[in-house]
Order: sequence, then structure tokens, then C-alpha cells
Amino acid sequence: MATSSAHMESEFHNPNLEVLFSAEEIQARIKAMGAEITRDYAGLNPLLVGVLKGACFFLSDLMRSIDIKLSVEFMAISSYGSSTRTSGEVRILKDLDVPIEGRHIIVVEDIVDTGLTLSYLLANLKSRGAASVKLVALLDKHERRERPVEIDYLGFQIPDHFVVGYGLDFAERYRNLPFIAVLKNPEA
Ligand code: PRP
Repeated sequence: MATSSAHMESEFHNPNLEVLFSAEEIQARIKAMGAEITRDYAGLNPLLVGVLKGACFFLSDLMRSIDIKLSVEFMAISSYGSSTRTSGEVRILKDLDVPIEGRHIIVVEDIVDTGLTLSYLLANLKSRGAASVKLVALLDKHERRERPVEIDYLGFQIPDHFVVGYGLDFAERYRNLPFIAVLKNPEA
């Protein structure tokens, strides 16, 4: 394997990152959320719906803290462009592979920011005849909300800073951080 100085630079100790929630804090919070969902959904065989890509890391840990019969599906939705942003319309790039009529749906998201994506997605899933549709989100950047979104299970409230890690990216980078950090200078 080639050895250059670039290979030695640790992404996890990048000085441009300021840790907001450590890996231990995240895992402890997820265990508590999982226990709550385990209690609330016992006997209901819920369908967890993960929204690609950012939520997959959270979903992967969360579902292993939910000790009941369940299944999991993924959706991919396009980020709205500047012209479609205010309408809140999002495009479904990959839909569910199963019908959800009569199912108890738990949408799993990494972050709720403006609320445009989730208000659209939750309404869309409800319109398909699900028995219930609830939302679990790891992070809530409430100050930025433009559309009301009810978060049924929340990990952490965060201030309006640019956060990365544990699935959250900046230009596709930093998703692999085991912790959540504020990106001090996105230009760096
Ligand atoms: C994030 C997040 C939500 C959305 C929330 O996804 O996973 O889907 O943004 O933002 P909103 O409340 O302003 O609508 P993103 O578009 O960053 O895609 P990614 O998960 O692939 O990184």
C-alpha cells in the first residue's frame, strides 16, 4: 500500500471539526430511543423507512436497539433545487418496494431542518393508507423550520450550525465520522 502524508491525515481528528455529540452520547441516546420504540410498537410489526443517504447510519444502529419483530425499507428523494424549494415539492427517486396499506410506518431521518422534505414525505406516506405514520429523527434544527413537522421520537435539538458526521455530509464528505461535529469553516 502506498504511504504518503495524505494517508496519515486523520479525518476523525480534523481540526476543522468541533465535536457536538460524541459517539458514546449518540449510542446512549439511540439505545433509549430504541427502548421507547420497543415499548410503543410491541406486537405491531412496524415498517421502518430510511431515507437515503444520511439516515442509513442512524437507522442501522437504531433498528438494532428495537427488540421486536419489524422490517425495513429505503426511499431516495431528490433535494429540491432553488426553484422548487419554496413549493416544498420533492421528487421520489426510489420508492418503497412494498405496499404500506394498514402498516405502522416509522420514518427514520438523520435531521429535520426546514421541514420541507419531511412534511411532503409524511403526507405522501399517510395518503397510501398506512395505519399510522410516525417520525424518528436524530437531530432537529428547529430554528430553521419553514413547515411544521411533528417529530415523535427525537435524539437531540441542535442550534443552527453546519453539522457533519454520523451520516451527515458536506459535499459528500464526513459521513463516516462516528460522532457529530460542527464544521467550523466549510470553505477550508
Ligand atoms: C437531509 C435529511 C433530510 C433533509 C432535511 O437530507 O436527511 O432528508 O435533508 O432537510 P429539510 O428539513 O430542510 O427538508 P439531504 O438532502 O442532505 O440528503 P442526504 O441524506 O443524502 O445527505
